[in-house]
Amino acid sequence: MIVVTGATGNIGRALVPLLAEAGEEVVAVSRRPRPDGLPAGVRHARADVGSAASMRPLLDGADAFFVLVGGDRGGHGESPKALLDAAGAAGVERVVLLSSQINSTRPEALSHARLREFEAAVRAAGPDFTVLRPGGFASNAFAWAESVRTRRTVLAPFGDVALPVIDPADIAEVAAAALREDGHAGRTYELTGPELISPRRQAAVISEAVGEEVAFVELSRGEAHAHMARFMPEEVIGGTLDVLGAPLPPEREISPDVESVLLRPARPFAEWVARNLPAFR
Ligand SMILES: NC(=O)c1ccc[n+]([C@@H]2O[C@H](COP(=O)([O-])OP(=O)(O)OC[C@H]3O[C@@H](n4cnc5c(N)ncnc54)[C@H](OP(=O)(O)O)[C@@H]3O)[C@@H](O)[C@H]2O)c1
Repeated sequence: MIVVTGATGNIGRALVPLLAEAGEEVVAVSRRPRPDGLPAGVRHARADVGSAASMRPLLDGADAFFVLVGGDRGGHGESPKALLDAAGAAGVERVVLLSSQINSTRPEALSHARLREFEAAVRAAGPDFTVLRPGGFASNAFAWAESVRTRRTVLAPFGDVALPVIDPADIAEVAAAALREDGHAGRTYELTGPELISPRRQAAVISEAVGEEVAFVELSRGEAHAHMARFMPEEVIGGTLDVLGAPLPPEREISPDVESVLLRPARPFAEWVARNLPAFR
């Protein structure tokens, strides 16, 4: 049995069906009631990854555990050691943690202190672990969906700074491999897409897919901060804008890890747009 937290998110929505199709018994965890679209036969449970007490009953009998740290409790909840102790006591053999590339490239970043605590707890705990450190997600482009639909416009800062954004479906496939297969224990994977792509170029890719002109409007850092504050915790915004505006050389490197785990190249941004076109039409 595999327990998946963040099951309603960008990664979880791809990971849960992958595991179910592979014949695994899956428990999909979210804080809200059962979401639409969960495959039939997948058990859903309400719990909070920031509360070991809420997770403990779900971990009984689990072989593997996907940990995604999100939301306020995930951000500010109790020590992650309690959660990892609960997993160890329940007999979980493998833990896969969704972390961030920022923990490699900016190990002092305040924005990611909580994720570093989770990494340390996972590495110190009994079960085998794999840490996934992705760069920026292709799905961050959902933030542009409404303005593309209603005004055929993308508003974003740092229009010409290109980064190797990753498709969450690739993260999910790497997670599924690490949860199900041998050979990933103790590994830390840096996960990126296959190409450097700027926000201006992303807007052009969306425009091609929609079949209509989509304008690109460059926001100042302050404007972008105000916009991101609507859906991101304050402490994460500064660090994110630093990466988007002034990436360090390793943040612009294309990692070989997706291809070495999945034995195929990472998916380009255009593939993510094609799968999610209704959001932009
Ligand atoms: N976006 C990026 O560019 C980027 C880059 C690197 C790393 N990351 C990391 O990726 C993660 C976000 O992944 P994502 O895009 O899949 O997330 P997402 O789409 O925002 O979804 C996360 C899901 O997790 C659930 N959740 C949130 N807090 C929870 C909690 N405390 N306990 C249990 N479930 C909780 C939420 O569902 P419910 O509300 O239903 O519980 C939500 O649907 C974060 O850890 C972030 O640090 C993101």
